[in-house]
Amino acid sequence: MPSPPEPERLSVASRASNSNRREPIGIIGLGYVGLVTAACLADLGHEIHARDVLPEKVDSLRRGETPIHEPGLTELLARNRERLHFTTEIAPVLEQAQLLFCCVDTPPTYSGDADLSRVESVVDDLRESREHAIVMKSTVPVGTGRSIARRHESLGYVSNPEFLREGTALADFMTPDRVVVGAEAHSQPFADRVERLYGPLAAPVVSTDVASAEMIKLASNAFLATKISFINEIANVCEEVGADVDEVARGMGLDGRIGPHFLRPGIGYGGSCFPKDVTALKQLAGNSGYHFQLLTAVIEVNELQKRRTIGKLQKHLGSLVGKEIALLGVAFKPDTDDVREATSLVLAGRLQGEGAHVRVYDPVAADRARDLLGGARVCDSALAALDGADGAVLVTEWQEFRELDWVEAKRRMATALVVDGRNFLDSEMLAAAGFTYEGVGR
Ligand code: UGA
Repeated sequence: MPSPPEPERLSVASRASNSNRREPIGIIGLGYVGLVTAACLADLGHEIHARDVLPEKVDSLRRGETPIHEPGLTELLARNRERLHFTTEIAPVLEQAQLLFCCVDTPPTYSGDADLSRVESVVDDLRESREHAIVMKSTVPVGTGRSIARRHESLGYVSNPEFLREGTALADFMTPDRVVVGAEAHSQPFADRVERLYGPLAAPVVSTDVASAEMIKLASNAFLATKISFINEIANVCEEVGADVDEVARGMGLDGRIGPHFLRPGIGYGGSCFPKDVTALKQLAGNSGYHFQLLTAVIEVNELQKRRTIGKLQKHLGSLVGKEIALLGVAFKPDTDDVREATSLVLAGRLQGEGAHVRVYDPVAADRARDLLGGARVCDSALAALDGADGAVLVTEWQEFRELDWVEAKRRMATALVVDGRNFLDSEMLAAAGFTYEGVGR
């Protein structure tokens, strides 16, 4: 008789289908986090009642359209369509589900604090309820959970921060390094139910208090950003002393205490999370009377790193007045159409400030950024952006840039200069093709 398959060899979906009871789930806010959470929990077998205040977004989801670019998401939503119910109303969500995942955004305010107005309006919708719990996925300052629980004693409260990376969010959800669940004693039964949702994923669970869960999220993002700023500074020193930062990062990363991840040098981190969360943690510390010096440096290094690209162009082109510069990539990282805090936006602004004419190309994100690019010309192919250019900057490491016909690009460019902001292109091939190549830390 064949032996039964070992549990860890079963697919996540089949493990889910073996579980008897599947808790209906409410999702509030259908941005990146909400949509990915909705799709993945539906794939684990749960009925999802998902609400967003934007009728056009809800309508498009009902039609089967996906409002964001995230690899695999359209297929996952389609596969679980019968379990996904989208609405603009809160009442049907409260009727059907008791665990309500709050996935609204918490953008930075001018002071650097997180704007909690959307979180507060979600909590206002729920406050009268005894049988519901808010499961906080939105990134909030430490102390937010305690403050909400104090004001709305009847409502359960569980902190369940997300660690999804845009571009690989589905895999990050389904195979997490850890799941963090924070709750105080009165909400422990809700926390146990949240933990059970993640049971099929067989990930380590950190069960803790709410403030510590909130801090795990902020500290994790701040630490990863610190690693990036650290390797960027090492890269800058490598340029001065003739070392190769990619070799240095490889040699460092093999030390188990350091690890290989987030040691890729480049032109600075961007996105909706690191810039916001590092500032929010620094601000949180400052508001409590503690000056978080290290994070001040992490932020400054990141800002300077974005601008070093200008110096590399000037080194070869002299004054940039009237020069045609092509930016390859607008999204803050590949496989997403997200342009929030993207380095491309800073570069486009700085280059135009130096008097250059800027053209940009991105496979998916350029249209979203059109209004943020300050008059830069949006092109519909990489070769079109490079046509007649005096220099190109690789801003986002989209695979199609590595596969580009660089010989044809050289033929079209006025000056064969490439500044590779991600050490992504084949430098030897480019040199052989006659390009002047500038990487980071090489
Ligand atoms: C980040 C975290 O990695 C997630 O764990 C977290 O859940 C998420 O923020 C969030 O708080 O919601 P994300 O912003 O999607 O995820 O993207 P990352 O892959 O972390 O990249 C962030 C930025 O750092 C990008 O601009 C990327 O180009 C840059 N980066 C990343 C580097 O410059 N070097 C590296 O080695 C890694």
